[in-house]
Amino acid sequence: MKNKSVKIGRNDICPCGSGKKYKNCCRNEKKEISIRDEYKNRYDIILKTPEQIAGIKRSGDLLMSIMERVEKMIKPGLKTDEINTLVHEETIKAGAIPAPLNYKGFPKSVCVSINEVICHGIPGERILEDGDIVNVDITPILDGYYADASRTFFVGTPGSDAKKIVSVAAESLKRGIEAVAPGATLGDIGHAIQSYAEGQGCSVVREFVGHGVGIDFHEQPQVLHFGTPGKGVALVPGMVLTIEPMINLGKKELYVLEDKWTAVTNDGSLSAQFEQTILVTQEGYESLTPYEL
Ligand code: MF3
Ligand code: CO
Ligand code: CO
Repeated sequence: MKNKSVKIGRNDICPCGSGKKYKNCCRNEKKEISIRDEYKNRYDIILKTPEQIAGIKRSGDLLMSIMERVEKMIKPGLKTDEINTLVHEETIKAGAIPAPLNYKGFPKSVCVSINEVICHGIPGERILEDGDIVNVDITPILDGYYADASRTFFVGTPGSDAKKIVSVAAESLKRGIEAVAPGATLGDIGHAIQSYAEGQGCSVVREFVGHGVGIDFHEQPQVLHFGTPGKGVALVPGMVLTIEPMINLGKKELYVLEDKWTAVTNDGSLSAQFEQTILVTQEGYESLTPYEL
């Protein structure tokens, strides 16, 4: 019998030479292609190829190296525009582009959000003061690939409110990330965050959400930081999402300043945020912008 007419069984060794069973190897690729098509058609979600994932990861490595430089420079007396200069120059030096610059008219290369500013603070003349908390949100485009991450830092010596909100925001992201696995849903992520943050007496901002990322800045799906277990789109390997809960010490309501960007808490309470770019893997997740939470 000629080889080409032999039907390959599910449990046969895969003809591609991997040594794995056919059902766990190339037979599965066909299935992946149909999942890829289904996610694109039904949800407009781009499942990433290994090559794209490698590109986003390189962008994430660059991002985290810039974030380390930012961390070292944060101190009382620093002008927020100096953070912008550092992020801009390090991004360009690496052959990358700062995605925020001119994005929908945003005038700077990084978002810098102090105290009651929830997100999208525009760096400028404001000076960091002892006891402030400051979020720095960085998004490079390296070889066309976007990675998106932020951290909230203490400036000098934090007070008890600052310690509380930064700790709750960091743990919220940690719990959101730990909910990520194939077969879990977007609602599981939102629920993990909301139940923890509200349990700590804090509130979850609704107007801004996480998002698919990698080929573009903001892709589908929206990743809500509140929700119901089991609801929403099922996570599958190859999805790349940001999780970026904004947690307020007081109430969740916000308003946006006249500059059309700066979002601040309505009640003036402190707000903190942490963000990472997360890949859904076969086993669970991998952060493409990893740092300790
Ligand atoms: N980096 C933000 C996010 O996490 C988006 C900032 S948009 C900008 O999605 F224009 F303000 F930079
Ligand atoms: Co983001
Ligand atoms: Co961001």
